Amino acid sequence: MKVVRTVDEVRAELAPHRAAGAIGLVPTMGALHDGHRSLLRAARQAVDAVVVSLFVNPLQFGPHEGFSAYPRGEGADLAVCEQERADVVFAPSAEEMAMESGVTTVTVAGLSEIVEGRARPSHFQGVCTVVAKLLNIVRPDVLYLGQKDVQQNAIIARLVEDLSYGVSITVCPTVRQPDGLALSSRNAYLSSSQLTDAAVLHRALLAGRARIEQEATPEEAEREMQEILAAQQGVEPDYARAVDPHSFKAPKDEGPVLLVVAARVGGARLIDNLTAHRARG
Ligand code: PAF
Repeated sequence: MKVVRTVDEVRAELAPHRAAGAIGLVPTMGALHDGHRSLLRAARQAVDAVVVSLFVNPLQFGPHEGFSAYPRGEGADLAVCEQERADVVFAPSAEEMAMESGVTTVTVAGLSEIVEGRARPSHFQGVCTVVAKLLNIVRPDVLYLGQKDVQQNAIIARLVEDLSYGVSITVCPTVRQPDGLALSSRNAYLSSSQLTDAAVLHRALLAGRARIEQEATPEEAEREMQEILAAQQGVEPDYARAVDPHSFKAPKDEGPVLLVVAARVGGARLIDNLTAHRARG
C-alpha cells in the first residue's frame, strides 16, 4: 500500500493501475470504522486498484459544526486501509487541497437546500466541491459511498451525471451495531450511555417504516418518528421526515418512501435513514 500526499504523486502512482484495469475510490474524512471497511471490501472485490482518500474537508462544516474537533487519527486509519488491502491512500494536507471557502464552488441546487441541507446550509456545497476535486484528481471508474448518507449520495449522483464524470456509483448498505445504531465517525464523541440512547434513531425509523407498511400517511409516520425521538432522554430531535427517495420532497402516492431522521445526542449530530415499501406500488 502506498501513501501519497500530493496530487502529482497520486496521479503518478495511479498511472500504471489505470492502464491495467478499473480504479475504485472510497472517499472518506478518516476516523475509519466498520462502515468504511465494508466500502473497502466491496471495492477490493470489484476493481483492480482501490484508492482511499483521507481528508477532513473544512468546506462541509458550518461555523459551529466542530471542524477542529472532528476525530482524526491517521495511524489507525492507515492500519485499516492496510488490513483491507487498499492500494493507494491519498492523504493530502489542507494546503495541497487548497480549498478556499467561497471561491471555486460546486453546487447541486435544489436537492442541497432541503431536509439535511436546510439544517446545514452550505454543507452539501462543501461536499460537492471536494468530491468534484477528488474525482478530478483520482479519475476513478467506480465511487463507493455508504447508504447512511443517503441525501449526499443523491446529490453526488446528480453531480456526476450533470458534469459527465463517467464514474459509476456503488452504494453499500449501512453497517449497524447490534442495537441498530448506524456506525458513524461521530459516534466517537459519545459515552457508552449516549451510544445506547442514540439507538433510538433506528427504533424511530423502524416504527416509521411499520406505519408506512400499514398504509399510514407520510405525515403520520413522521409524527410517530418525531414522538419516539422526543421521548428519549438525552436526545434532541432535529427532523423526522418521510420523503420521496429521489426528490427528497413529499412522497408520491405509490412506491417506496424514504424515512430520514437527524438528532443531536451529546456532542454529536447523527443522521440515519430507512426505506419503507408500501403494499401498493
Ligand atoms: O461522507 C463523507 O465522509 C464526506 O462527506 C466525503 C464524501 C468524504 C466528502 O468529504
